[in-house]
Amino acid sequence: MQSNSKEKRILQFRLRQIQKRALEKGLQVRVLKRFNYICFVENKRSESLYLTLIITGGTIILLLLISFGIQYALSCRCLLPLNYLVWEVARPLADCSYCANVTKPIILWNVTRHSFKPYAYSSKPIIVKNSVTHWSAIKYFSYYMFKRLYEATSGSYESLEGCQFLNFKTDLFSLKEVFSMSNARVRNEPGEKPWYVGWGNCHSEILQKVRKYYSIPDFLPEDAEYPATENIFFGYEIGAVMHLDYIPRLMWQGQVRGRKNWIIAPVPECEHECQRIEYYVEPGDVVLLDTRLWYHSTSIPKGQFSITVQSEYG
Ligand SMILES: [Fe+2]
Repeated sequence: MQSNSKEKRILQFRLRQIQKRALEKGLQVRVLKRFNYICFVENKRSESLYLTLIITGGTIILLLLISFGIQYALSCRCLLPLNYLVWEVARPLADCSYCANVTKPIILWNVTRHSFKPYAYSSKPIIVKNSVTHWSAIKYFSYYMFKRLYEATSGSYESLEGCQFLNFKTDLFSLKEVFSMSNARVRNEPGEKPWYVGWGNCHSEILQKVRKYYSIPDFLPEDAEYPATENIFFGYEIGAVMHLDYIPRLMWQGQVRGRKNWIIAPVPECEHECQRIEYYVEPGDVVLLDTRLWYHSTSIPKGQFSITVQSEYG
């Protein structure tokens, strides 16, 4: 680098000497200036081409790095907080008509598939009252029923693709830990830490047994797409903190036991024309919500034990 600039200085000195001698021998300044101008343009052109190549190459490398970074963040299950951040940044802006003038959930009674049709695929919050009171889950689902089932099934705790375990703010990090709690904590007795967890039920044998106690709500569209499994959520008090779901379809949730309080809020770009809403669901109700567009948090009233079956349709 240093030798290059030295050579350049020597070359410039020699050129100046040649130019001086040429002027002494009668070369017109105008011609020399023209010569200098041509040289200047040639250099400038090559410099500019060099600069363009560097900028283009750098931009391509930067875009590739960003693309690889996003793909890595989305595919890596252990980077959940980063996933949420990436998704939130990548989320398209919402059309606020989904929440404009919504001040409470739509409450429906005695719903059939036909009467539900106008509400199917709606992004407005809906409660279908007493629609799953016939589920035998309401009578049989309990902490101890699931504990017995998981303990009696070989491979039940093995991590299966899609079997997400959510501990919310609970200090339990696997189903095995959940089903190893002391009886006092299971019952949330005074002095015990409340707990609330959820998981995707995708062990085929367990799923087959558990599905005998509930069914997909019969008012949902026949031609809708449904996932291969359902999620179970149960516990006391805590519920889920305010969040959006990054799922491909609308959410439905059947309340099996206990009462669950919901707080829903519009996405930030719709806050100027939409409002936060609070409501609750009771055993036998189904709550429907576009959890991709409504921020939502849940909590269980003190002293109650909540169990829900949750899935998607779309
Ligand atoms: Fe959610």
